[in-house]
Amino acid sequence: MAFVSHLECARCRKHLELGRVHNLCDCGSPLLVRYQLAGIDGSALRHRLASRPANLWRYRELLPVTRESSIVSLGEGFTPLLHARRLGEELGLPNLYMKDEGVNPTGSFKARGQSVAISMARELGLRKVAVPSAGNAGGAMAAYAAVAGMQALVYMPEGTPVVNRLECALLGAEVVLVPGSIKECGHALRQRIEREGWFDMSTLKEPYRVEGKKTMAYEVVEQLGDKVPDAMIYPTGGGTGLVGMWKAFDEMEELGWIGRKRPRLVAVQATGCAPIVRAYAARAEHAEEWLNPQTIASGLRVPSAVGDFLILRALRESQGVAIAVSDDAMLDGVRHLAETEGLVTAPEGGATLAALERLLEEGFLAGDDTVVLFLTGSGYKYLEAMQQAALMRPGHEP
Ligand SMILES: Cc1ncc(COP(=O)(O)O)c(C=O)c1O
Ligand SMILES: [Zn+2]
Repeated sequence: MAFVSHLECARCRKHLELGRVHNLCDCGSPLLVRYQLAGIDGSALRHRLASRPANLWRYRELLPVTRESSIVSLGEGFTPLLHARRLGEELGLPNLYMKDEGVNPTGSFKARGQSVAISMARELGLRKVAVPSAGNAGGAMAAYAAVAGMQALVYMPEGTPVVNRLECALLGAEVVLVPGSIKECGHALRQRIEREGWFDMSTLKEPYRVEGKKTMAYEVVEQLGDKVPDAMIYPTGGGTGLVGMWKAFDEMEELGWIGRKRPRLVAVQATGCAPIVRAYAARAEHAEEWLNPQTIASGLRVPSAVGDFLILRALRESQGVAIAVSDDAMLDGVRHLAETEGLVTAPEGGATLAALERLLEEGFLAGDDTVVLFLTGSGYKYLEAMQQAALMRPGHEP
């Protein structure tokens, strides 16, 4: 079923075999899934998958699951790539698109990663899965664990939006609230994991969530009629989406689906938590921890990322950029996307529009560029932010 070959450490390049339970490499770095694509007839595959159901499992040969019976799916992926006509006209950017990830199960793109990771957990015979989460990843994991009949444990920062917390509880997960950020959640959770034998599903600490997220890039290319966009603007916390998509472009080139062209990747962070932006500006290899992280975009309140060097590498290789936007600018973006394009998106999505406006002003992007904004989550889960964004509308008192 799959072309999957082995796992490879992203730093020391050590190879590890599939079919065993892995977290990080011995050297402390993330493991990435590698596929045997040489000799595969890419155009025949491309043809075959075009008629398959519209979810991410249409790309199953390029995912790590080897048995169909392992797949745990709620219909995630193949989300709409919407042409932002009104917004594009206003900005002088006729080829502006929005990848609406808010329509995924549990309302965010985290469903992609968790569908693949829980499927792999099932394939490997795991029964207890745990994750520190800023909100959406925990909810998604809880949903897929419920379908798979697994036990789920989620550690969340105290400031996580209330819907994220309720969702996890409703989906049967044990929820523990921790003072601080996702980093403190990770520390607290580690002790439980060791004591009680949970499998650690933290971002990039297990190799498969990134595989689910990479499918966003396959979809964008397919939905643009086999075209690679000029730029992709992505709200970056742990960076799984960016790292996964960057890898997906290489896989697509190897299959002959695309040529050498790559999009410029734009990582958007919050001014109150911008470790990647700071490291990228300093041309550093790694990002130092951001102290006292603060932002309304809970998914971006990630003070340090285990895959920092992979995010920075992808930005450099793509001749991209990392920029920080304020919470007010994000909420402005949320409001503007709602008013012009009819989408109620999470603050993380609003951040991509704020970034786009800056990049046009600064001349980083040109009017004839094809640009994709990743609206990673639904705004309906962010009652607190939605209230603030609505209150910012002049003359409206909700
Ligand atoms: C809505 C939303 N956008 C973006 C992110 C950041 O994603 P990543 O960890 O892939 O960088 C998150 C993470 O929680 C999120 O929930
Ligand atoms: Zn290694």
